[in-house]
Amino acid sequence: MADITLQNVVKRYGDGFPAVNDVSLDIADGEFMILVGPSGCGKSTLLRMIVGLEDITEGEVTIAGERVNEKAPKDRNLAMVFQNYALYPHLTVFENIAFPLRLRHQPDEEVRRKVEEAAETLELTEHLDRRPSNLSGGQRQRVAMGRAIVRDASAFLFDEPLSNLDAKLRGQMRTEILRLQRRLGITTVYVTHDQVEAMTLGDRVALLRRGELQQVAAPRALYEEPVNMFVAGFIGSPPMNFLPAVVEGGELRLPVVGFRPPDDVLARVGDRSRVMVGLRPERFTTVTGDGAGPDDVEFEAEVDVVEWLGNEQYAYLPYDEPEGADTTLEELERDLDSERLRSQLVVALDPADAIASGDRIRLRFDPRSMHVFDVETGENLTLGVG
Ligand SMILES: Nc1ncnc2c1ncn2[C@@H]1O[C@H](COP(=O)(O)OP(=O)(O)O)[C@@H](O)[C@H]1O
Ligand SMILES: [Mg+2]
Repeated sequence: MADITLQNVVKRYGDGFPAVNDVSLDIADGEFMILVGPSGCGKSTLLRMIVGLEDITEGEVTIAGERVNEKAPKDRNLAMVFQNYALYPHLTVFENIAFPLRLRHQPDEEVRRKVEEAAETLELTEHLDRRPSNLSGGQRQRVAMGRAIVRDASAFLFDEPLSNLDAKLRGQMRTEILRLQRRLGITTVYVTHDQVEAMTLGDRVALLRRGELQQVAAPRALYEEPVNMFVAGFIGSPPMNFLPAVVEGGELRLPVVGFRPPDDVLARVGDRSRVMVGLRPERFTTVTGDGAGPDDVEFEAEVDVVEWLGNEQYAYLPYDEPEGADTTLEELERDLDSERLRSQLVVALDPADAIASGDRIRLRFDPRSMHVFDVETGENLTLGVG
């Protein structure tokens, strides 16, 4: 068991490019920490520096209070659980789990005791004599974890362990890893680019962009209180709508509607003449006549495409993009590797609403549910408002 801390950690590869740039992060003993971000943002590099497979250019990594920068991977006592499980096909489950103990020439008695104990925890007892090829994907993953458990590793490290699996198995494995981590209470650092894994597995999530840490928070806080447009756009599916807005005479003019925002929101806008308004798709509802909050904003728009999924329904509503408002979003689209963020509004509606392509529909949203961002820095101006 151990806590892991990163202090101002930098990684520069040969070409001088900072793949990880000044990252500081405290991972508590027993915590399940997720490192997430788009491909190439430095997740694997960060993990590999913790485990010792990559030199640390600057900064310090400590495990259980001790500096490990100069320590070889085998002396850090961390267990990396690889994507392909790295099981030996010719060995039984028992011997696969026992492998690290055999390497250290531990006595048979000790090996048996530890393997059986791990197998018990992992519900693998009746499979100990089988070979990996006869096991399900989930069972194989557990064998790989068993190997880490018998070593009494201080922490588990995962690098996208589920990315090669089909969607159904991925879902099962996700639950399995979560259950095991909870049961074992072992410090875990888990790299993924998948926001569903990030949101469901982590006690906390660390979100990276181009090697820099953007925000570290519990999944719920990340979703509800994103510090900037990048975090807001990365977390949530479909992504948050970003609507360029002009500020004039105490009003916000969005491409789809103009209105006077609540005073405390306006105060945060300050003397800016342009801002970016963020509204999550699920914050919109269709207007059916009653039930509007006193401050709700209503507008009409034409539906381009409808996606009806039974339990969800999404409508896509194009709008005319104001001139010169899009450079921030273009860059964000590139970084997020996202579908088009511009010139269409995505709304999640009640699947019971009968909506078809070409309909003009009336929508409403509560202006308190919007985030307002600075167009230059992307900073969320409305954190803590309302
Ligand atoms: N061995 C290497 N040499 C040079 N550049 C590398 C090396 N490994 C990774 N990089 C670069 O560092 C950045 C971060 O890579 P990586 O940590 O693998 O990202 P992620 O795991 O988030 O996809 C990328 O731009 C990648 O091209
Ligand atoms: Mg990677």
